[in-house]
Amino acid sequence: MKILLIEGPLLDKIGEREPQIYGEKGTREKLMGAFYEKAAALGVEVEAVSDYAEGNLAKIIVNAECDGIVINPGAYTHTSILLRDALLCAGIPFVEAHISNVFAREDFRRKSYLSDVAAGVITGLGSATYAAALEVLITFLRK
Ligand code: DQA
Repeated sequence: MKILLIEGPLLDKIGEREPQIYGEKGTREKLMGAFYEKAAALGVEVEAVSDYAEGNLAKIIVNAECDGIVINPGAYTHTSILLRDALLCAGIPFVEAHISNVFAREDFRRKSYLSDVAAGVITGLGSATYAAALEVLITFLRK
């Protein structure tokens, strides 16, 4: 089984940007380390890709060759009909993942263009977020 982790803009800045929300220095390493450890424990192949541009993310999604997607679209979560359409076009099951708890923040972060078509949503688990999203996705795919 192959899973693609797709990240949108500013997620490479975890550990630097707004540390009170996204975590201190070292959080990015923990986040990715936990994700790869979980993949090994579950026996699945994973690949991580990221891009700042909405159109490039849509291209990555529609060209993806994988069984499932974990996606953290960053701010595009709350704005992008394109990413919703791309995920529906690809028809690949996906879990939406957010490092912060988007429901505990500004009102505009409560709106997601993806959640209602996702297999599941993980939000607010900090450095454990991608590992948890991967586990949920694999449970969904194996059921
Ligand atoms: C985020 C939450 C979004 O609202 C925000 O725009 C991000 C990161 C998260 O992982 O918590 O860039 O997706």
